[in-house]
Amino acid sequence: MRRIISLAFFALVSSCQSSSSSDNQAAAAVSIPSSSVVYQFSQPIDHFGLNNNLWEQCYQLNATFYKPGGPIILVTPGETSISTYYTDGSYFTNLAQQTNGLVVAVEHRFYGGSNPMPDLSGSSLKFHTIDNVLEDFASFARAAKSDPASVFPVDVSDNSKIIFGGGSYAGAIAAWMRAKYPEIIDGAWASSAVVQYRLENYQLDQSWGKHLAALGCAVEMSQAVKDLDDILLSGNQTAVSNVQARFASPELTPQDFAGLVTSLISIDATSTITKDVDYTGQSVCAYFDGKRSNLDSYAWAIRDTISYLKLDQSSITQMADTTLNWDKYALGQSGRVWYYQECAWYGNWQVAPPQGSGYSPYRSRLVDLIYFEPNCKNKFGQEMPDHADADGFHQKWFNMLGNVSNIYYTVGSLDLWRGSTVVPWEGSGLPNTTDSPIYLINGADHSQDVGRVRANDLDSVKEARAIGSALVQKWIS
Ligand SMILES: *[C@@H]1O[C@H](CO)[C@@H](O)[C@H](O)[C@H]1NC(C)=O
Ligand SMILES: *[C@@H]1O[C@H](CO)[C@@H](O)[C@H](O)[C@H]1NC(C)=O
Ligand SMILES: *[C@@H]1O[C@H](CO)[C@@H](O)[C@H](O)[C@H]1NC(C)=O
Ligand SMILES: *[C@@H]1O[C@H](CO)[C@@H](O)[C@H](O)[C@H]1NC(C)=O
Repeated sequence: MRRIISLAFFALVSSCQSSSSSDNQAAAAVSIPSSSVVYQFSQPIDHFGLNNNLWEQCYQLNATFYKPGGPIILVTPGETSISTYYTDGSYFTNLAQQTNGLVVAVEHRFYGGSNPMPDLSGSSLKFHTIDNVLEDFASFARAAKSDPASVFPVDVSDNSKIIFGGGSYAGAIAAWMRAKYPEIIDGAWASSAVVQYRLENYQLDQSWGKHLAALGCAVEMSQAVKDLDDILLSGNQTAVSNVQARFASPELTPQDFAGLVTSLISIDATSTITKDVDYTGQSVCAYFDGKRSNLDSYAWAIRDTISYLKLDQSSITQMADTTLNWDKYALGQSGRVWYYQECAWYGNWQVAPPQGSGYSPYRSRLVDLIYFEPNCKNKFGQEMPDHADADGFHQKWFNMLGNVSNIYYTVGSLDLWRGSTVVPWEGSGLPNTTDSPIYLINGADHSQDVGRVRANDLDSVKEARAIGSALVQKWIS
């Protein structure tokens, strides 16, 4: 069974499925409301005065474990919709059980049903700024502290402690919330927090290589990538067509084909590693068995991924085409909103390492800035910058995390995103301090500590959770 955790890219609902009827409110007075009830909180389109019209932000909650005086455990899924997984299923629910806490999952603006604007055009997305995102959560948190009856259907103490939790991009949000609003947010659990931003994120490719190296097929995989690039860059049309057929791909431009293969192998790149299985071993390294060429092994792994995902030729063509739907503004396209963040905020494009850098590549060198960046103006308008100000974004938001107390950072040692965390493979991370400790989870992949508790979890994951639980107990006492 595949356990895939990927960053966004699956379109979901487009309005809060609100069931804020008086029935729910009345029922709440006598019993604990179902965590599937979606509530709404009014927010201005822009918190900084550019547009004061209101929209409704969605949230769900699980009050089963709440007792007066317990903390509010505020979580966001980040770039995907809220669901009962976030209220009932993640480790944050166990944390609530341990602390008499209330779990509240608040949706991120422009994702799921939390839409400030009627569409996702470039002019609507002007209000999609990280400052607005964080201020949304801060406004909710202020209301939860100062007037809990205004947001909760159950009795919650005034001035509750608030712990913010999240994984991946949402892990960074958790850390930024504590850094920016220390008077409202009492602590943060920032799992695999993506806090390092750069225009070209080839570090992701390199983390992938480290994982493959741990499994024993990094050299072979990199050779396959280089062999494939030799063909794609040869200018020999017959050879290019032949190799695409070997990968079960329709005829595409070499660059779209390179992007397709990279997307497909990425689906195998992040999965929960348990005591019993590392899925990447089965879905990638198992194919490099020495019985066929590296290129054939790569082709076979991709063909099996295509058949597992039941992709037909037209969906494969769409997957390869990053210009797809550039003129479609409808709500509910999480991939489009994520693309906007890349274009307008921080880049972080998942490219191959630079030529001549000495790094072994694990994706085609055709997957470069030219593959991604031209879409920004196409999708969002000519006023988009040629390049995102990745350095500016990084300076502001990474520096904000220096010297902040009560943040617990966790990172899997084999985390695909490790190069973007506080413990990168190389370059500077954050200091490991008593106030804000860092735990490197040996042998784990992305955000496993905050995921669902399972019987075969790695011991290191259990240890990371125990440390986090103890810290939260300390912060709220
Ligand atoms: C809260 O989560 C727990 C653990 O998953 C679950 O048993 C309980 O039913 C949830 N509470 C509500 C009100 O849905
Ligand atoms: C082009 O590739 C085909 C198929 O691999 C090969 O048979 C042919 O010799 C190549 N042509 C050139 C000019 O290298
Ligand atoms: C970090 O915070 C402590 C306590 O607030 C303060 O004394 C110290 O000067 C700060 N250090 C830096 C580098 O800002
Ligand atoms: C951070 O410090 C703690 C306490 O000394 C230690 O247990 C932990 O392994 C350190 N984390 C890292 C990433 O070095």
